[in-house]
Amino acid sequence: MALIDKHKIIETNATILFALSFLVVTIGGIVEIVPLFYLQNTIEDVDGMRPYSPLELEGRNIYVREGCYLCHSQMIRPMRDEVERYGHYSLAAESQYDHPFQWGSKRTGPDLARLGGRYSDAWHVDHLVDPQSVVPESVMPKYGFLLDRPVSDRYITDLLRTNRAVGVPYSDEMLENAAADFQAQADADSDSDGLLERYPGAQVRNFDGQPGISEMDALLAYLQMLGTLVDFSTFEPVASR
Ligand code: HEC
Repeated sequence: MALIDKHKIIETNATILFALSFLVVTIGGIVEIVPLFYLQNTIEDVDGMRPYSPLELEGRNIYVREGCYLCHSQMIRPMRDEVERYGHYSLAAESQYDHPFQWGSKRTGPDLARLGGRYSDAWHVDHLVDPQSVVPESVMPKYGFLLDRPVSDRYITDLLRTNRAVGVPYSDEMLENAAADFQAQADADSDSDGLLERYPGAQVRNFDGQPGISEMDALLAYLQMLGTLVDFSTFEPVASR
């Protein structure tokens, strides 16, 4: 009997098909699940990853509130076309402090996982105020109102504390200094030594170029940080170490 005929027996008998499918799925499931019980952690620690600074975290909340994830992903897949367009593929560690994660499931616009440093602050402000002035065929909504909405440090300590409750390693010192760090990051003339010690690589400046701290400042602090924390010129995956 040819192999194809033997297979016909399976395909024409629902009971055998079901029993064998069940067997295959069970084996596949065990192979996938069992290793997870033996791993301490499925996220490989990577140098450079740190909790978000208070201003970045506030900006991230605005990103979530405005639903940017509905059109933008933050996950570069390890495939050549993606890596050539967006940069190094995303590491699990890069979203380990995201609650909730922002991988997204739809790309109406480009992936934003490595957006930080790609454009100037002024470009971002122009683009967010009127995306069509930069890319005429863009379907992205206008977000100019963010410039007019001041953002205060009133709840920032609570925001950090809430993130700590779900596992982000904010220290007591970070909580105590949350409001001061929040203010310092948006002001180029501030004393930012403490901020930079707690959040290495945090970018300190008046992001939107207008007085006071607006939601635009917070959002830009977040966008300009995206994908910049890990130094990929020195990064080596565990498997090749
Ligand atoms: C309705 C879908 C939609 C929403 C919602 C949306 N965008 Fe976009 N976005 C786009 C599209 C389409 C583009 C590509 C054209 C352009 O640059 O405007 C884009 C481009 C961008 C770019 C340029 C990226 C690059 O690499 O060139 C940035 C930055 C950006 N969006 C940020 C945001 C932020 C921040 C939000 C939330 C405040 C947001 N977008 C909400 C559709 C959207």
